[in-house]
Amino acid sequence: MYVLDRIIINGQQRLNGSVFVNGAKNAAVAIIPAALSARGICVIENLPCIEDVNILANAIRSCGIKAEFRDPHTLIIDSRNLTDYKLTFDLARNMRASYYLLGAFLGRFKKAIVPLPGGCNFGIRPVNLHIKGFEKLGATIEQEHGMIYAYADRLVGDHIFLDVASVGATINIMLAAVHAEGVTTIENAAKEPHVVDTANFLNILGAKIKGAGTDNIKITGVQELSGGTYTIIPDQIEAGTYMIAAAITGGDVTVKNIIPRHLDSLSAKLREMGCRIEEGGDYVRVVGASELNSVNVKTMVYPGFPTDLQPQMTALLSTANGTSVVTETVFDNRFQYVTEIIRLGCRVNTQTAQIGIVEGPSKITGAEVSATDLRAGAALVVAGLAAEGETVISNVKYIDRGYEDIENKLRGLGANIKRVNEQGEIVNRAPARDRIFDDTETLGHSIDEVAATLEAPNVVISA
Ligand code: EPU
Repeated sequence: MYVLDRIIINGQQRLNGSVFVNGAKNAAVAIIPAALSARGICVIENLPCIEDVNILANAIRSCGIKAEFRDPHTLIIDSRNLTDYKLTFDLARNMRASYYLLGAFLGRFKKAIVPLPGGCNFGIRPVNLHIKGFEKLGATIEQEHGMIYAYADRLVGDHIFLDVASVGATINIMLAAVHAEGVTTIENAAKEPHVVDTANFLNILGAKIKGAGTDNIKITGVQELSGGTYTIIPDQIEAGTYMIAAAITGGDVTVKNIIPRHLDSLSAKLREMGCRIEEGGDYVRVVGASELNSVNVKTMVYPGFPTDLQPQMTALLSTANGTSVVTETVFDNRFQYVTEIIRLGCRVNTQTAQIGIVEGPSKITGAEVSATDLRAGAALVVAGLAAEGETVISNVKYIDRGYEDIENKLRGLGANIKRVNEQGEIVNRAPARDRIFDDTETLGHSIDEVAATLEAPNVVISA
């Protein structure tokens, strides 16, 4: 991780062309831990080359299993000999998704010890619903010295109602329930595409999950999961960020390798603002308008407007004519970035922790700003693209957690953007992985055998 890198943008270049979207971060960070539910070899394709994936790969290695990148976007995980159900890896504390190991270990071993999760700070982010779900399945949960301890003699399926349609709780409960005796139902389940992707992955490994993508998921427990090959869905939020970048620069951008339906709520808002949106099987083209209309936006669980695009959308609304009201309903405190976009000239008044009033059009001008979290960083990039003069963004480490190669992708669209290191030298952090899969010894399969499974997607490898 290059913590002292900065991104420098000279704004007001109209973006033009096409950009390719990588695999979904929030699916990747669930599917990597989910692979540890299986006693087998999993080949996970289309992983984004981002810091959160690197951290998780190191975290699972620290549990004593083999996890090697075959190429920057393909991770091979061999958890046949996994015996450890404890995660102590320090960096994992800082990321939210490390808690998925709790569900995976509890399901497979009936015990788990995992640190209380961190993650981007936008208010209190409790795990009470995860715990309530595990307890319903028969587990005892204790918290001590910053760790969560979960154990059960046996897990037995039950009916679990989630007070909030939590993504994390839905996935975590699914991970434990795939190994519970009998049937578990999760009511008011989250419907986000990455929930469906995780369920599809588990089903490839032999799980019996039905209804993912609806608010009622039914899981019939199985004794054991085996390995398999799986390709992660495209990143809806990365795609949305480039769509907003196109709109804020009045550009004409085709965002490729996506599932357009995952972006319906954003496309609808961009149309309402005056942009032209064209959709094909796996792309969306956004053609900006010379003047944008103000619109109100309320974040909601899927298929509503995603909270993870709220900061970027607020930046865009600053350039629209009139007043827009942005209401955040998913998190308690996701307007912390506002102090930074105000430095760029955006006029946003946070009336409460949930409501931002955006006055437009604002004259956006470059300044030195700092990312406070991942999507806050993306909002600063988006605003910087529209700003007159130079915007210098520090704390780029947050952006690197979730966006693969953002400056090269934007440069490919015509943005004047560069990354500099601590010394101010221009640097290129093209996708790379620290360890590439290289030998037969590691997995007990030759690379050719593993590669053969890649050519036939979703073929189960028996281990
Ligand atoms: N909540 C509870 N109790 C729980 C769990 C959640 O009250 O036990 C509340 C939260 O406090 C929050 C709401 O439920 O107010 C929704 O939280 P959810 O559990 O759905 O979010 P998450 O699993 O912590 C994931 C993504 C976030 C994304 C949210 C909402 C991952 C690793 N993170 O978080 O992604 O914002 O779902 O879609 O999947 C991002 O990518 O920038 C990001 C923050």
